[in-house]
Amino acid sequence: MTPLHRIEERLHALTFRQALALVAGANLFLVALALALPADGEMRGPALLSILGNFHILALHIPSAVLLVVPLFEFFERHEQATTTVRRLSVFSAAGTWAAVLCGILHAHYNGFAGDAVQLHLWGGIAASAFAGLASLLLAKEFRVRLAAQVLAIGVMGFAAHIGGELVHEEGFPFKPNKKVVAESRKEETPRVVTTSQKRDDYTQVVRPILEAHCVSCHGAKKVKGKLRMDSLEALKKGGSEGSAFVQGDLKKSPMHARISLDPKDEDFMPPKDEKPLTKEQVQAIGFWIEGKPIPDDIAKAALAANNPAKK
Ligand code: HEC
Repeated sequence: MTPLHRIEERLHALTFRQALALVAGANLFLVALALALPADGEMRGPALLSILGNFHILALHIPSAVLLVVPLFEFFERHEQATTTVRRLSVFSAAGTWAAVLCGILHAHYNGFAGDAVQLHLWGGIAASAFAGLASLLLAKEFRVRLAAQVLAIGVMGFAAHIGGELVHEEGFPFKPNKKVVAESRKEETPRVVTTSQKRDDYTQVVRPILEAHCVSCHGAKKVKGKLRMDSLEALKKGGSEGSAFVQGDLKKSPMHARISLDPKDEDFMPPKDEKPLTKEQVQAIGFWIEGKPIPDDIAKAALAANNPAKK
């Protein structure tokens, strides 16, 4: 008897209530973990957890594929009672989905993800894990109930996977051809670099890249001028010796905006005089964000295009 057989026997010996407690407990653990380790856009260590997070991208494919295969075997075998193959695949897909979501929560927290789409993907993933668990709980039921539960789990997984796909690739993926085809069909010369304002997370996609290109060399982990770090949202809120770097909705009380909109000859002007000043669009983009308004697409595009090349 292999260890896997032993685990299988133990699971099989569980009463329905015990199995329910196991599935509910495992998934509530994911909820608690997601709340304890928020996706706040900050990259952090330890290295091991960051790497484990990266494995989300690999790990997720296995349970998704297995989940899809369960109904196929149900149809092949079409027994009133779930066969051993169906049981094994279903339990494996539920456990695998759970593990992939666990890595996903770490990936988001340790590797610097944030934004509405990330939140939707994260909670969609937890729901997919719960539904895959539910399907495995219903294995003792009749054929139709089992099938319905599997199809539901596949649906929830499909939704979460779609949002994940859009995060990795771009909005509309996979139902959109490559950029060249899209540009030709719109008769545009250059493909769009920036996602549209409705779908964009302005901090991570516009403001942070500007700060990284122009400010973080002096206000980051290595140098902390004015006691101010500008490499994460938390750090901006925490601020420096003059207090929080910005006050939502109030440009005048936001030192990071005040300093970039001074006369460049002013000694308080940022970045300091030897550095390239921000362009009008970059200042505007930061202003819109502080005011809590979406950054218009043309300003976002011009602001990002003017960024200093990333320092290696
Ligand atoms: C070459 C280094 C350098 C760069 C680049 C730079 N700063 Fe500064 N920054 C400083 C120094 C030095 C101070 C502290 C002296 C002062 O307050 O003027 C400072 C202070 C500040 C303060 C006040 C912090 C506080 O609470 O006291 C703000 C706000 C600020 N910088 C914003 C920015 C922004 C926004 C950028 C990017 C557009 C930027 N800085 C780029 C060197 C830099």
